[in-house]
Amino acid sequence: MIIEALSVFPEVFEGYMSASIMGRAQRAGLVEFRSHDLRDWTHDRHRTVDDEPYGGGAGMLMKVPPIAEAVAALSSTPGEPSPHVVFFTPSGAPFTQRAAERLAACDRILFVCGRYEGIDERAYALADERISIGDFVLTGGELAALVVTDAVVRLIPGALGDEMSNRDESFSTEEGGGLLEYAQYTRPAEFEGAGVPEVLLSGDHARVAAWRRRDAIERTCRWRPDLIETAALTAEERAWAREYIESSEKGV
Ligand code: ADE
Repeated sequence: MIIEALSVFPEVFEGYMSASIMGRAQRAGLVEFRSHDLRDWTHDRHRTVDDEPYGGGAGMLMKVPPIAEAVAALSSTPGEPSPHVVFFTPSGAPFTQRAAERLAACDRILFVCGRYEGIDERAYALADERISIGDFVLTGGELAALVVTDAVVRLIPGALGDEMSNRDESFSTEEGGGLLEYAQYTRPAEFEGAGVPEVLLSGDHARVAAWRRRDAIERTCRWRPDLIETAALTAEERAWAREYIESSEKGV
C-alpha cells in the first residue's frame, strides 16, 4: 500500500510516520508513506499556492493550478496504480472506523491537505471523496491526514504486533458489533482501594466473555447511545439496552 500526502508543510509528517507502529509498518514494507511539497508544482518566483477570494472576505484560498498539476503528476507515476484521492475539509463526510476499513482496501491513497481559509471549490473536482475528522476547524489538513493514516495503517494485516488486537475494540465491525469496547484491567488487582471486577479474576472464559459483552453494551448506552441503533445486537440485548437507556433518562 502507498499513502501520500500533498501539503505545503511536507516535513510535519516525518516524526509521527517514523515512530512506533507507523514506522515499523513502513520498515516491514507493509506501507510506503510519501509526503510531497505542493510548492514543487508552482512556477512563479515566490512559489505561490494561495490567493485572495473572489467576492472579498477574510483570509486566503488555495489556488487550483498547483493542486491540479500535482494531482495529475502523482496520478500518473509509471508502474504504480493511480491513487484514490481524498481531500480534507471540515465540510467533508465525517470520518469513521467504517471509512478507515474502506480506505485500508485501497492500493494507493493521495491525501490533499488544505491550508488557509480553504480551497478554491473547483479543486474538489479532483477528489474521489472529501473527509472531515470532526466538527471543529483545524489550521490545515495535515493533522487530519495523520489521523486517517494512523487509523488505516493499523488495519493492514501485520501492522499491529498482535493480529487479535484489531478484533473486538471500539467500533470494530468484526466482533465488537459497532459498540464501544468493554473496560479492561491489568495488575495490580487493587489500586488505592479500587478493585477489578471479580469475574475477570475467575478464569471462567464464558463468564468473562458474557461480562465483557454486557459491559460493552452498557458503556455504549451510557456514553454513545447514538451507536446503539446500528449496533449488531440480539433481540434480547436490544431490549435490555433500550431499558437501560430509558431508566437512565428517568434518572433511575
Ligand atoms: N481541515 C480543517 N479542519 C478540518 C477537519 N475538521 N477535518 C478535516 N480537515 C480539516
